[in-house]
Amino acid sequence: MQYYMAPMEGLTGYVYRNAFRRHFGGIDKYFMPFLTNKKLSHRERNDILPEHNAGLWAVPQILTNRAEDFLCIAQELKEYGYESVNLNLGCPSGTVAAKHLGAGFLAFPAELDAFLEHIFEKCELKISVKTRIGKEDAREWETLLAIYEKYPLEELIIHPRLQRDYYKNTPNFDAYAYAAEHSGHSLCYNGDITGAESYRKLRERFPQTGKVMLGRGLLANPWLPGDLRAWECGLSKDRNEAHRECDKVRLRAFCDDILSGYCAVMSGDRNVLFKMKELWVYMGELFEEPQKYLKRIRKAERISEYKAAVNALFVERELRGREQVSCGFFEDVLS
Ligand SMILES: Cc1cc2nc3c(=O)[nH]c(=O)nc-3n(C[C@H](O)[C@H](O)[C@H](O)COP(=O)(O)O)c2cc1C
Repeated sequence: MQYYMAPMEGLTGYVYRNAFRRHFGGIDKYFMPFLTNKKLSHRERNDILPEHNAGLWAVPQILTNRAEDFLCIAQELKEYGYESVNLNLGCPSGTVAAKHLGAGFLAFPAELDAFLEHIFEKCELKISVKTRIGKEDAREWETLLAIYEKYPLEELIIHPRLQRDYYKNTPNFDAYAYAAEHSGHSLCYNGDITGAESYRKLRERFPQTGKVMLGRGLLANPWLPGDLRAWECGLSKDRNEAHRECDKVRLRAFCDDILSGYCAVMSGDRNVLFKMKELWVYMGELFEEPQKYLKRIRKAERISEYKAAVNALFVERELRGREQVSCGFFEDVLS
């Protein structure tokens, strides 16, 4: 099984990716948050610079519905040495979809087909697609998949939800099954894999699945790839007290590394704290009864206050058993 890190705009930039590789790893490919400007912004360029991705198998992603813009960005990526690029057809955001971008593009199959024809004819990089299964209705999926089948995609990553679902409802396994049956592409599953239980359901229904992309579950539990590999091998992941202490030390080093990474490249406490607070929305779940501490983290206005709050959390709270790292954040944060 191969595990991919999902692109998550604002969260899985190069500071996070590098810290993740140093402290946890277990990820086969890191998909980068989308690039959208024909002339890359400073932030976008920084994220893709090869020196910021050394030792990572990193795949840049483009969000556009203009073939010329796609080709222009792809050309620049090629000059940086990239061999593959991913097309974002999954972003559900209302503002993005209203511009017929991301999952919003799926409502225009004829235009999408023409776009793909153009980029596959001209692009010198391998192209993979990350898609949802439609805009409004799962019946759109058959048509969309038939379009994808016309082109030599490097791989097809499927998040089996509709644009209008955002992150609500459960992933549509039947739609993924349809692709597994009818697609000649190499498929990757993405959606709501947060631990052994959700993974078991996926593996039982799709024993042939060879690739899984991990998003929010990975942010909430950086041990996830290791846990899933252990599950594959039938290993127990019971942690005794000593293990849990080691886990804490490791997690602490990871968090400190991310913080110093942001401090080194961003100016002002506010910007750095904004990034760290976003991460804690997910990571807070790792601890027993973290609410009081997370509130302190959220309220921190200076890095010194933030550090004191994080320190208190690590000293005064234990890590949960990882099967209990559930995804309360799915409803709370994203609905
Ligand atoms: C905050 C946030 C940012 C995201 N940014 C991107 C992005 O830049 N590109 C993309 O293709 N998907 C993006 N996604 C979608 C994820 O890559 C992934 O498809 C989605 O979260 C479902 O997987 P999961 O259930 O494992 O989280 C984002 C999702 C979230 C919650």
